[in-house]
Amino acid sequence: MTADFQKWAGNCQTRIEIFLDDRLPETNREPERLHSAMRYTVLGGGKRVRPLLSFAAGELNGADEARVTVVGAAVELIHAYSLVHDDLPCMDDDVLRRGKPTCHIEYDEATALLTGDSLQSMAFQLLAENQVTDSAQIQLEMIKQLAYASGSRGMAGGQAVDLASVGKILTLPELEFMHIHKTGALIRAAIMLGAHCGDRLNDRQLEQLDHFSKCVGLAFQVVDDVLDAEATTATLGKTAGKDADNNKPTYVSILGVSQARELAETLRRDAFQSLESFGEAAARLRQVTDFIIQREF
Ligand code: IPE
Ligand code: IPE
Ligand code: MG
Ligand code: MG
Ligand code: MG
Repeated sequence: MTADFQKWAGNCQTRIEIFLDDRLPETNREPERLHSAMRYTVLGGGKRVRPLLSFAAGELNGADEARVTVVGAAVELIHAYSLVHDDLPCMDDDVLRRGKPTCHIEYDEATALLTGDSLQSMAFQLLAENQVTDSAQIQLEMIKQLAYASGSRGMAGGQAVDLASVGKILTLPELEFMHIHKTGALIRAAIMLGAHCGDRLNDRQLEQLDHFSKCVGLAFQVVDDVLDAEATTATLGKTAGKDADNNKPTYVSILGVSQARELAETLRRDAFQSLESFGEAAARLRQVTDFIIQREF
């Protein structure tokens, strides 16, 4: 990671943090416990990879930074909600997230459920009450895209497949379906919504960007599977080895670590190929992709 990228990423993360801190309801506002849990969940942690992708795609399409901040924050709220529910005892049953006790451990299960619900609603509220593009029709389209990416044909659907797959050996196409939905869909939305805040790219270029986003979305979860098997709880800030403990089919359980890493590399090459015609303008997107593939947590 170059110093220049680190500085850029730090600035993006700060922008998102300040925006979310400002928009999340204050803890002293009723219902205090729920508002406290929402802030506990969202603020002060996480890599903010999805907003980074929104900013990089927005830059490529000449988007206004303030508009991309709204979009990046909305996607991050959906992501944070998905983590709270993913950690519940009825799903992965995890006690550690972003180096802290999970929401249901710090608060309680009912509060965690409502925290997820509220963060999801807040994401759509942000997209409905802030102008993020000049065209009202495109803005509606963006809200629709985020809804698809979050629901049963996106993240929630992928999570359903994940739960139904415990103890099973999946074929590669089945595993890919699960990963593309539970993780890929939201990453794809982060990139395409960031891009839709601008208006420089033509339809063909948007298609190339969309292909890029699909590759990166899948690669993200392949690396997550590898890290679950190889990294430590201390570096991850979440319990390592949880997939094997929970009997989850993953790219590591099906292919082994080295083939899973090879797959991540193949996806990176495929992703970069879709960016070729953009030249230097896509440098940030390449850097975020490298960060996703090479990260240690
Ligand atoms: C973890 O996502 C859950 C997956 C979708 C694999 P991240 O690795 O982006 O988690 P944070 O936001 O940095 O904590
Ligand atoms: C989570 O996948 C995907 C979503 C939260 C939608 P994982 O269950 O692998 O995520 P971690 O490893 O707990 O972060
Ligand atoms: Mg899970
Ligand atoms: Mg999990
Ligand atoms: Mg995981």
